Amino acid sequence: MIHIDQVAKRFAVPAPKTSNLMGWLKKPAPNWVEAVKGVSLKADNGCITGLLGPNGAGKTTTLRMLAGLFAPDQGRIQVDGLDVVTQPQAALARMGILGDAHGLYPRLTARENIVYFGRLQGMTREAAEGRAEHLADLLDMRKILERRADGFSQGERMKTALARALVHDPANLVLDEPTNGLDVLATRALRETLRSLARDQGKCIVFSTHIMQEVEYLCDEVVVVSQGRSLAHGSVPELLAQTGRDRFEDAFVALAFPDIQEAA
Ligand SMILES: Nc1ncnc2c1ncn2[C@@H]1O[C@H](COP(=O)(O)OP(=O)(O)OP(=O)(O)O)[C@@H](O)[C@H]1O
Ligand SMILES: [Mg+2]
Repeated sequence: MIHIDQVAKRFAVPAPKTSNLMGWLKKPAPNWVEAVKGVSLKADNGCITGLLGPNGAGKTTTLRMLAGLFAPDQGRIQVDGLDVVTQPQAALARMGILGDAHGLYPRLTARENIVYFGRLQGMTREAAEGRAEHLADLLDMRKILERRADGFSQGERMKTALARALVHDPANLVLDEPTNGLDVLATRALRETLRSLARDQGKCIVFSTHIMQEVEYLCDEVVVVSQGRSLAHGSVPELLAQTGRDRFEDAFVALAFPDIQEAA
């Protein structure tokens, strides 16, 4: 179970250089980008929860905080009741994470990438090898298992990264735009895998996307994020009813861009 409670994060970015002399002598104060201003979500076990928002909404920043890459300025994140900031090791052990960059070791084979991460998670070599075998079948990656990752296609990289995220059989799975760059068959296969992991194995899955069909097809719960804030949550039928729309895309636009709606 994943619980994100009103997290916020801002980043300092260098101020633009000024052309006058004082500007050169004095170091300018940085500008601040408020990437996330207030995002909350509750993701249950056995459910797929989608973080749906336009470009720049704050999805990746929220998921990076969930993955413990940096701490929120405000708010709390718990994974199975463990605080990601104060108990990072225990919380991270309960999560499989597929980030926006897949970052595989190019000189290792797919199998070696998976086993290496299993070992980092504290698994014995034997257990990690066993999981690599199981995941190779689950994710249909027999053909690439003994190939070096260098030169893998986008879909092959994604499968290897997903296997790596699942190697320690985590109860929670966090994915940032997992179908990005995948073809129709690979997308379908991934969707089926995610459904089965949630329905049959009771995993808690949180993923980000801006693809409406994906949300309609996969999500038990949707959290709409726009301009750094979570603005609405519920199942697809609940969000349709809440906005009085027939099409989910219209419901999303009404929820994510209320100003545009009013102007129209
Ligand atoms: N390290 C950083 N430094 C400065 N600004 C950042 C940083 N990371 C994110 N931002 C800014 O925060 C905002 C939210 O970015 P984020 O990557 O979380 O959005 P997103 O919802 O994942 O978007 P997309 O759909 O394009 O992936 C953007 O305006 C982005 O430019
Ligand atoms: Mg993103």
